[in-house]
Amino acid sequence: MTSDSQWMKDFRRKTVTRRVPISGILELTSRCNLKCVHCYLGPQEEQRKKRDLEMTTEEALEVIDQIVASGCLYLVITGGDPMVRKDFPEIYRYAKDQGLIVTVFCDGILVTDKMVRLFQQYPPFNIDISVYGATAETYEAVTRVPGSFRHFLRGIDRLITGGIRFSLKTVLMTLNKHELDQMRLAASKMGVKFRVDSAIFPCLPTQDHEPLDLRVEPQEAVELELSDPESLQAWVDYTEDRQETPAGEELYSCGAGVTNFYIDPMGFASPCLMTTNYRYPVGERGFDQLWQNELVQLRSKKPREGYTCNSCEMKTACTGCPAFNFQENGHEDIKSDYVCETTQHRWEAIQEARDGQVATVARRMARRSAVRQTNAVRQTNAARQDVAENRESGDSRAD
Ligand SMILES: C[S@@+](CC[C@H](N)C(=O)[O-])C[C@H]1O[C@@H](n2cnc3c(N)ncnc32)[C@H](O)[C@@H]1O
Ligand code: SF4
Ligand code: SF4
Repeated sequence: MTSDSQWMKDFRRKTVTRRVPISGILELTSRCNLKCVHCYLGPQEEQRKKRDLEMTTEEALEVIDQIVASGCLYLVITGGDPMVRKDFPEIYRYAKDQGLIVTVFCDGILVTDKMVRLFQQYPPFNIDISVYGATAETYEAVTRVPGSFRHFLRGIDRLITGGIRFSLKTVLMTLNKHELDQMRLAASKMGVKFRVDSAIFPCLPTQDHEPLDLRVEPQEAVELELSDPESLQAWVDYTEDRQETPAGEELYSCGAGVTNFYIDPMGFASPCLMTTNYRYPVGERGFDQLWQNELVQLRSKKPREGYTCNSCEMKTACTGCPAFNFQENGHEDIKSDYVCETTQHRWEAIQEARDGQVATVARRMARRSAVRQTNAVRQTNAARQDVAENRESGDSRAD
């Protein structure tokens, strides 16, 4: 281990013991230029109606002042697409001027030349862009905006030409799983990091389950995810790194309300994006008061008897959490079956991959998902042929 990473570990540990809100998400707007089929924000028509409730520029800057005063260092600015707000450059620049290390979550489409100049002058830590397919057909089946793939490619191109650091990520869905490899390859050709997430959650805060219909079956999702040796190695490293973390008795064991927080477009603070039932207006008492009082309350919650996640040996490979459970099941201490099953498959692969077997296991995952895809294509073709034959025999009977 390098001394740098040891320093970083000590630093992080101190922020936890001193409960410093070092890492925040600022959602500037829920409005977006796209209408993604899986989006947890729900229908964009509804989001547009809330425009007048959004923080003004001055209120957003005031929130930045307050979180910086409380100890924030890392800030994610997200949306919707944060760039739909005309004052995005002003708010972004202000956050940078206050010394924040800023990452921007966006769809890449609104990255104009002006935006690139802004990022050249005030470099972001990262621009984290979602890619929803490797072809226009698939990308636009997700975004539901014709022509959006072309604009996405143009935005990416501008970032590359302008020398701005960015990375790509995707949400794995039934609609785009067949293009995961192509997306990965495209990212690798661009020389940018790529990551994939299969844990689709319901709409926030309505808990509308419609997005969940797009989930890929757990075993297939893991095969697709871990057929990339880099992703598998990253999981091996991550789980090894966190092996010693002792199991606590509290319901929440993540950073929410300890080092992490979330501010919504209306200026309400929560411990995290998904803890929608813990939501308090910053304007009334100020962020620091909320951080010292309301935002810590969820940390003392204990799960009901029978909750097995705290003592689970696979915890380090699990992407679930009490807030995710709440959104899916209405209870923080009833686990998501989808996440649990996905974790079991992931855990098996991680165990096998230890001791230098990463490449072998990744190859096996790739082979299995290739066979699965070939079978799916065969089944689709057979079904199409059946339909055609039935139609033909129907036609000849009609004759
Ligand atoms: C809400 S978007 C905001 C930033 C930007 N518009 C984008 O799409 O990247 C943040 C991330 O959440 C993902 N996301 C949206 N709905 C989701 C859901 N129901 N489950 C899991 N991830 C979701 C998006 O795909 C995106 O990667
Ligand atoms: S681009 Fe992001 S915010 Fe916009 S609709 Fe898609 S997932 Fe939602
Ligand atoms: S959801 Fe399943 S895998 Fe995840 S911590 Fe709970 S029991 Fe373990």
